[in-house]
Amino acid sequence: MTKVDAKDLDFDNLDFSYRDLPYSYEAEYHDGKWGKGKLTTDSSMNISEAAVALHYGEEVFEGLKAYRRKDGGVNLFRPDRNAKRMKNSAERLLMPGYPEADFIEAVKEVVRANQDFIPPYESGGSLYIRPFMIGTSPIVGVHAGQDFTFRVYATPVGAYYPGGLTPTAFVTSEFDRAAHGGTGQAKVGGNYAASMLPGEEAHRAGYSDVVYLDPREHHYIEELGSANFFGITKDGQFKTPKSPSILPSITKYSLLELADEMGMNPVETPIAIDELDQFAEAGAMGTAAVISPVGSITHKGNKHVFYSETEVGPKTQALYDRLIAIQYGDEKGPAGWAVDV
Ligand code: PLP
Ligand code: COI
Repeated sequence: MTKVDAKDLDFDNLDFSYRDLPYSYEAEYHDGKWGKGKLTTDSSMNISEAAVALHYGEEVFEGLKAYRRKDGGVNLFRPDRNAKRMKNSAERLLMPGYPEADFIEAVKEVVRANQDFIPPYESGGSLYIRPFMIGTSPIVGVHAGQDFTFRVYATPVGAYYPGGLTPTAFVTSEFDRAAHGGTGQAKVGGNYAASMLPGEEAHRAGYSDVVYLDPREHHYIEELGSANFFGITKDGQFKTPKSPSILPSITKYSLLELADEMGMNPVETPIAIDELDQFAEAGAMGTAAVISPVGSITHKGNKHVFYSETEVGPKTQALYDRLIAIQYGDEKGPAGWAVDV
C-alpha cells in the first residue's frame, strides 16, 4: 500500500474505505505481559503462516471515531466503552485484555499523529479508528495462543450506508451471524466472516444490509450486519431488540439515554419480525452507521415500508441531531461522553 497524502483527499465526499495513513500504533504481548506500545509508520504486519488468528480466528476489534470540533479541537466519543468492550471480547476468546487506560492513550496517539487526516468540521466526515488484537502464536491444534499483537489504525470516512440520512432498504436472511451462547456479544472477526455471504446476497439484490433474525426461531429481530436496530412506535416509544447474541452497541446505549431525555420512554425488548406495523420509523445505529434510517424491511418477499423510502422521519432526525451535536462538540452531553484528544 502507498501512503495517502492529505492534499489528495476530498474530505467532503469521503466514502467508508481504508486509506493508508502515516501512523499506526502497535504493542506486543509475550511471556505473560504487554510490552511498551509505540507509534509505527509500517502499516503492514509480519506474522507466522501458522498464527492462530489466521486459522482459528483469534481476533477481536473495536471501532470508534474522532470528530473535528468547530473550535478546531478533536473529540472522541466514549472511548472508555470501547476499551471495556474490547476487554470483554478478548476474554471470550481467551486473549489477554489490553489495559483500558493504555487503549485510550493509544487511540489518542494515533489521532494526534494523523491529525491532518481528520476531516474538517464542515465536511461531516470523521476519522474512523480501528483498534484490534490478534493471536500471533504459531499453533496447529485448536487452543489459544500465548503471543498477541494489539494495533490501532485510523482512516478518514464519510457515510457507511450509501444514503447517509436518506433511508435505504434492508432484507432478512435465512442465515444467522451468531448463536445464543456463541460470540454475538463479542466484537470478533468470525461474526463478520459469517455475515459475508448473506451480506453479499443482500447487496446483490439491492439492499443496504441484512436484518438478522434470532437463531432459535427466526421470529425476532437481532441486529443488522453492521449496526443495532431501533424502531419508533406510532405513539413515539423508542424500542430496540433485547437478545443475548447481538453486539452491545455503544451508540445504542447512548441513544437509550438520549431517547429518555427526549421523552421517548425507551426500552430494550424482543421485537418480532411480524410486528413491524407498530413502528412509525426505524433505523440502524452504530459508530459507522451513526443513525441511518431504515426505509423498509423485506421479509419472505413482503416489503414493509416505515416512515418513507426517501425522507428521514422526524424522531429519527431529532435523535441524529442530538447525537452528532454531542459527538462534534456543538452541544453538551452526559458527563464523560465527549473526550478531548
Ligand atoms: N452491531 C454490529 C454487528 C456492529 O458491527 C456494530 C458496529 O460496531 C454495532 C452493532 C454498533 O456498535 P457501536 O455502536 O458500539 O459502534
Ligand atoms: C463500527 O461501526 O465500528 C463497525 O464495526 C461496523 C462495521 C464497519 C464493521
